[in-house]
Amino acid sequence: MRFEDKIVLVLGGNSGIGLEAAKAFAAEGGKVHFTGRNQATIDEAQAAIPGGTGYRSDVADPASTEEVVAKIEAADGRIDVLYINAGVGGFAPLRGITEEAWDHVHSINLRGCVFALQKALRIMGRGGSIVVTGSIGAHGALEGNGAYAAAKAGLYMAMKVFAKELVGEGIRLNVVSPGPIETPLLHRNPGMSDEQVAALKEMMIANIPMHRMGQSEDVAKAVLFLASDDASFITGANLFVDGGLIELR
Ligand SMILES: NC(=O)c1ccc[n+]([C@@H]2O[C@H](COP(=O)([O-])OP(=O)(O)OC[C@H]3O[C@@H](n4cnc5c(N)ncnc54)[C@H](OP(=O)(O)O)[C@@H]3O)[C@@H](O)[C@H]2O)c1
Repeated sequence: MRFEDKIVLVLGGNSGIGLEAAKAFAAEGGKVHFTGRNQATIDEAQAAIPGGTGYRSDVADPASTEEVVAKIEAADGRIDVLYINAGVGGFAPLRGITEEAWDHVHSINLRGCVFALQKALRIMGRGGSIVVTGSIGAHGALEGNGAYAAAKAGLYMAMKVFAKELVGEGIRLNVVSPGPIETPLLHRNPGMSDEQVAALKEMMIANIPMHRMGQSEDVAKAVLFLASDDASFITGANLFVDGGLIELR
């Protein structure tokens, strides 16, 4: 029960990794608030997260995040644990990337996450803990992944800087960088057919030292560790959850 009496906000908590983490926070006593864009999966997640409250909110729009933060402030007064997980994929090779696709990925995965952090911080205080979902995509070159890799690499460096800025406020901030994880994200990549997704999975499994795809639970466990007091002397860290793909290459 590491999160008993803790107010938790998960941005992007209605699917995949975020949903698994939200359920795990609730299972350990946390009072969970979460966001997403899809009302149907928000409703399903709310039923699956004991005591959870879901909000339809677009992380690309800082005003929308501010509205959620204001509602949490009215209900609970503060946020103790913030998990910034919202993100989208978007494969396209250099010659095929459109300005719109680039801006879409960056507005969510980089700009949106940064300003969401700024908004949520307003009601966070000493002892607070932040975890941000990065990606191994920021640490290796995968053809076609330029827009996503650049956004996650920017997010990673921005968060490292913010972690340092927040030390004096008694707030820890860490990044968890998943490798290939079996979630809906893989199947809703606008630039890829089902055949290309299957080929990508095969290629990834062959290259992962542990020779399997990760599961959302694998990442959720790392997120809860970093968010908890078990990680009380850890800030500015980047934890790969990737079956050894980056560290053992
Ligand atoms: N799966 C992988 O292999 C992998 C690897 C490395 C990193 N990641 C990262 O892990 C995170 C979670 O992804 P996932 O694999 O669990 O995929 P997912 O099942 O597609 O989950 C993505 C989550 O982000 C939310 N989201 C996306 N855009 C949003 C927006 N504009 N505003 C609010 N919420 C938004 C989604 O909500 P809606 O469904 O309502 O849009 C959903 O809850 C992402 O940051 C992703 O980049 C995933």
